[in-house]
Amino acid sequence: GEQALDYLHERGLDDGTIDAYSLGFAPTGDVLLKYFEEKKIDYQLLRASELFVTWSDGTLHDRFNDRVLFTIRNAKGQPIAYSGRKLTSGDDEPKYINSPESPLFEKSRELFNLDMAKNAIRKSKQVILFEGFMDVIAAFQAGINNGVASMGTSLTPEQVQILNRMAESISVTYDADSAGQAATKRALDLIAMNSQLKAQVVHIPDNQDPDEFLRSHDSTAFTNVFVHNTEDPVAFNIRYLQTDRNMNNQAEVFAYIADVLPVIASVNEPLIRETYLAQLSDAYHISLAGLQQQIQPLLLAKIAQGQGGARQTQAKSRQQNDGAQTPWQNDTRTWSKAVQPNLRPRLSRGEQAEQILLAWILRDPTAWLNVTSREDFHFNQANYETLLLLASAYKDEFEGNEPVDAARFMDYVQRPDLTRIIASLDDIDDRLFDTEDSQSQINDYIRVIMQESPLEDQIKQVRRELSEASQVHNQALVAQLTIKLVELMKQNQPQRKS
Ligand code: UTP
Ligand code: MN
Repeated sequence: GEQALDYLHERGLDDGTIDAYSLGFAPTGDVLLKYFEEKKIDYQLLRASELFVTWSDGTLHDRFNDRVLFTIRNAKGQPIAYSGRKLTSGDDEPKYINSPESPLFEKSRELFNLDMAKNAIRKSKQVILFEGFMDVIAAFQAGINNGVASMGTSLTPEQVQILNRMAESISVTYDADSAGQAATKRALDLIAMNSQLKAQVVHIPDNQDPDEFLRSHDSTAFTNVFVHNTEDPVAFNIRYLQTDRNMNNQAEVFAYIADVLPVIASVNEPLIRETYLAQLSDAYHISLAGLQQQIQPLLLAKIAQGQGGARQTQAKSRQQNDGAQTPWQNDTRTWSKAVQPNLRPRLSRGEQAEQILLAWILRDPTAWLNVTSREDFHFNQANYETLLLLASAYKDEFEGNEPVDAARFMDYVQRPDLTRIIASLDDIDDRLFDTEDSQSQINDYIRVIMQESPLEDQIKQVRRELSEASQVHNQALVAQLTIKLVELMKQNQPQRKS
């Protein structure tokens, strides 16, 4: 195996890495077959192992000949298959030969290196998806432990779902060549359809494979690439969809626009959508108004698909209950889908109520008067309270008691953290506020904000005191605080009409 060992050393792998990945060598001459025959291993078992090919005369022969072997392990770390890379580049044999599917190896469900990467992935909530085994291994050697690769095939929905359970974000780091970019496009679509993972595309400089880059750079340089050389999926698609198109040809520009508008329509923030449209308009000298008109049906279709369906269900359940329903009394799943298609998940009840109520009063002058005339009303989140004060000043200065125009209000507010909130409020579906019992709904939101959110703050406070008390072993205080905490938590249970 000396030749193979030299090869791996030449590719920059050290002995520790070679051991960690159980890299090996398969010589020629049916060495493995002879070994097993000496051990009197059953023929059928050998066949099922897929370590051998069966000739037409029924005899078995080693599948891997004169190849460096990469051991493929399942998520538990058990070896289940091999991939063999040829040592020389000359002949027309494939570069890698992989084990076919076997009882142990279901390709579409396995990810190379998941066993070694899973702790790092769970801890950082981030996973790096590479194209090749060598990229994963080179990254590992450089101290980057959260890399995986699919199995010589393109990525599958199952693999994406597995990663979705462990991580929150995924960095697609494929080769810069056209095959790599096409695979990136497929991977992004697959990720969007099968997960909630936040994806980014990483571009390795100088058209290098990650593995090549790591051979001449350290892990800090590599990490820098992940911070500075990335694209979000929308930007990637806008650029990628131009590939192989002659953008000097008007017809091809229109074909490109037709492909790219659905991508832009998928963006939830109106401001960002507008920015992309303006860029397109500039780049290809087409009318912005025309683009806005053309994207309109796509946006409506999105509302119909993503929100309309759920809202219908909600409307139905309202009718069935024959009376005014508030969000909290509805089936929560139906409700949150219907109302919050674009809000970030996991908002607390209080935060949800603040978000919806602020959107409501900005858009509906009657609701504004209703809420702001209550002397004791305030938002609990500082950003929302700030926006309320700014909106009040803005209305005095510009629009009087008219609906607040989101774009103009953003210009007025200026602060990026606040304009982001305004953009997300603007995404809330208008139909939500178009209701007969607006008065009682608004009261419900206010009740949640005024009564329940402070309760959450109190709970947090008591928890803090409790942990301090237990650190200093003040048992009497611990007991006292525990009773208080339980009391508060009881009050904080969602109130359901049965
Ligand atoms: P690449 O051709 O990009 O290989 O294929 P690589 O990872 O850069 O390999 P080196 O650096 O030349 O050794 C990417 C992946 O596609 C699969 C393998 O999983 C490989 O890691 N592949 C490639 C095959 O399964 N068979 C092949 O013949 C080639
Ligand atoms: Mn490579």
